[in-house]
Amino acid sequence: MILFALLVATATLIAGVAAAFAIRRLPTVRLQLTGLALLAVLLPLSAVVAAGIVMFQSGHDLTILVVAAGSACAAVAAALLVARRIAAGLSGLVEASGDLAGDLATRVEERGPREHRALARAFNEMAASLERLFEARRELVAWASHDLRTPLANMQAILEAVDDGLASFEEYLPALHDQVRTLSALIDDLFELARIDSGALTLQLREAELSAIVDSCLRGLQAEAHARHVALEASVDPSAAARCEPEKIERVLFNLLTNALRHTPGDGSVAVRVEPGDEVVRVTVEDTGDGLSPESLRRMFEDFWRGDPARSSPGTGLGLAIARGLVEAHGGRIWAENRPGGGARVSFTLPAA
Ligand SMILES: Nc1ncnc2c1ncn2[C@@H]1O[C@H](COP(=O)(O)OP(=O)(O)OP(=O)(O)O)[C@@H](O)[C@H]1O
Ligand SMILES: [Mg+2]
Repeated sequence: MILFALLVATATLIAGVAAAFAIRRLPTVRLQLTGLALLAVLLPLSAVVAAGIVMFQSGHDLTILVVAAGSACAAVAAALLVARRIAAGLSGLVEASGDLAGDLATRVEERGPREHRALARAFNEMAASLERLFEARRELVAWASHDLRTPLANMQAILEAVDDGLASFEEYLPALHDQVRTLSALIDDLFELARIDSGALTLQLREAELSAIVDSCLRGLQAEAHARHVALEASVDPSAAARCEPEKIERVLFNLLTNALRHTPGDGSVAVRVEPGDEVVRVTVEDTGDGLSPESLRRMFEDFWRGDPARSSPGTGLGLAIARGLVEAHGGRIWAENRPGGGARVSFTLPAA
């Protein structure tokens, strides 16, 4: 008797596993759930029927078969109902994915079982970040063409004025030089940014003293600070050294200092601070200027983004994007905040030497 029970149990197990593998190969969720419901009803019932016939010589086969057929029908109906709901939830997502290609504002409703809601939420988040990315690209192209067109239009106006005899060429030569300089600085920045973004930037890392980098930057900007009546100060720990490519870090610091000077009114001050740590060296540029709006804090490191929406002030909005790319390529971090006493504070870290 025990041997027979073991035999039935083993046969049921083997049949169950084989059926589960077969069900997994069915093409739709609906068919798989229906197969599962049938299996859940028929497998135990056939074991009970077999046991009843052999062990107890039961004469109620027909009754058992009717009960089996009834419960199998009920299970299949329930499985079809559940499968329809699951399939409907998924088909909504499939449709939305198709629509997303044409309209990035497409979103799906977050409803149904927890897994469906999680999937819908993930889809909506993906769609939102795609929309942000495309908007940023659109702005980038618009701003890049604006900033490239401005010096070109100025040069064209100068050439036309000379052509029409309204002015002599010598008179306009310095202005022409300025426009060419603006244009080539913009193209250099774009090229640097493209190299950073594509990962083609190769750094010649070496141990460098931060005091030398800061001194060289301050020397280059002292005249401008003087003209703006802004005090330019530095507080550098002489032992601070980092593993970096000094020319690139000089460029980062130069960009931060140019911004600080540009946004600080006369009689204000701009200060550079270098603090060495165990793992990183921290460089901070602080000013006593207008400070950073919430939008500036959020977007100032984006390519081409500028706080001046009319884009009439000097600059192209690439300075901080380049600074961030260069700092991150060194394995450092860059961030901005407002100073408690007013003005902006931009800091970055570099791996200590
Ligand atoms: N120290 C600062 N104080 C106030 N606003 C700042 C400061 N630094 C940056 N910003 C804001 O962040 C924006 C982006 O700065 P970023 O250096 O990238 O571009 P830019 O200075 O406008 O142009 P570029 O550096 O390419 O000449 C600036 O237009 C400005 O609105
Ligand atoms: Mg700048």
